[in-house]
Amino acid sequence: MRNAHLGPLEVSRIGLGAMGMSHGYTGAGTDDAESIRTIHRALDLGVNLIDTAEIYGPYTNEDLVGRALKGRRDRVVLSTKFGLVAHDGRGPWTVDSSPANIRLAVEGSLRRLGTDHIDLYYQHRVDRQTPIEDTMGALAELVQQGKIGHVGLSEAWTDTIRRAHAVHPVTALQSEYSLWTRDQEEILPLLRELGIGLVAYSPLGHGFLTGTLRTAADIERLDDSDFRKNNPRFTGENLARNLAIADEVQAVADQVGATPAQVALAWLLTRGGDVVPIPGTKRVHRVEENTAADAVELTADQISVLDRLAPAEGGHHTDAQMQMIER
Ligand SMILES: NC(=O)c1ccc[n+]([C@@H]2O[C@H](COP(=O)([O-])OP(=O)(O)OC[C@H]3O[C@@H](n4cnc5c(N)ncnc54)[C@H](OP(=O)(O)O)[C@@H]3O)[C@@H](O)[C@H]2O)c1
Repeated sequence: MRNAHLGPLEVSRIGLGAMGMSHGYTGAGTDDAESIRTIHRALDLGVNLIDTAEIYGPYTNEDLVGRALKGRRDRVVLSTKFGLVAHDGRGPWTVDSSPANIRLAVEGSLRRLGTDHIDLYYQHRVDRQTPIEDTMGALAELVQQGKIGHVGLSEAWTDTIRRAHAVHPVTALQSEYSLWTRDQEEILPLLRELGIGLVAYSPLGHGFLTGTLRTAADIERLDDSDFRKNNPRFTGENLARNLAIADEVQAVADQVGATPAQVALAWLLTRGGDVVPIPGTKRVHRVEENTAADAVELTADQISVLDRLAPAEGGHHTDAQMQMIER
């Protein structure tokens, strides 16, 4: 596995998102033992960037990752996120990046992850009630105390990124970026100016780009808690319209002799050595498939076909979720 750079932090150029092991895409097929084997297999294949968050579960995903990393902590660049749980009694799904909340959140994450430091600690969503300068000041203190190594932001836009970076270096922005969610291309020049890496979440389009979810019946079969049941791109007429995108990815995959998931990841890898996809899976065979995208080379013609895919129909999140995303 080749490496990439998120600012000064060297990581494998493909990471592993652990969210779906406990949150978002659970339901049939969820099995903690297989999830832990998946994390171990990823490490053996050279993946070192593992991504979780306090809100996943909440808490259970950090617990699971902590169990998986027992005895393996030093092989991992461990990233987690705060800011969607308010520890003053308001609880999960409350945006709170106040310094007091961060100081409580970090202790819980360290305990669940079974470690004395987090390598990359992200604000999960920008908090409009707390100036980003205050948030970054609290995070800079955690860096000084050795509790965290680097600071990241997620789904933040230009003004917040500049203001945050002026207080303490931002190492990575984690935002949705894939063949069907391209708006990060607007922000990449700023990230490069400031030396900030881009961690591409949902790089497989929540699984859609792999061609495994194609019909209303496929979506109906998902667990009721599955995010995709309400996602605008997976519902109503948008689902059928978006199939053309999955079909084009499949056509390129057929030419390359790879799978659609590998093509979606290989395309992201062509964006630069500072763009790091973190595909999510809870299955050993899929982490093997996804990691092998490191060796998939696309021709200029194939890249150009993928660059020109029709835009997706429907927002990449629900309207309520979009309210929490800065643009
Ligand atoms: N910062 C944020 O706000 C934010 C938001 C969302 C996600 N994330 C992070 O980004 C990570 C990845 O994003 P994501 O999990 O939302 O989406 P994703 O990586 O685009 O897709 C994950 C889905 O695709 C399936 N899948 C994975 N590999 C596959 C393959 N080779 N063939 C067919 N299906 C495959 C997975 O199912 P199985 O598990 O059953 O294989 C899962 O349902 C998350 O784990 C999380 O760490 C961050």
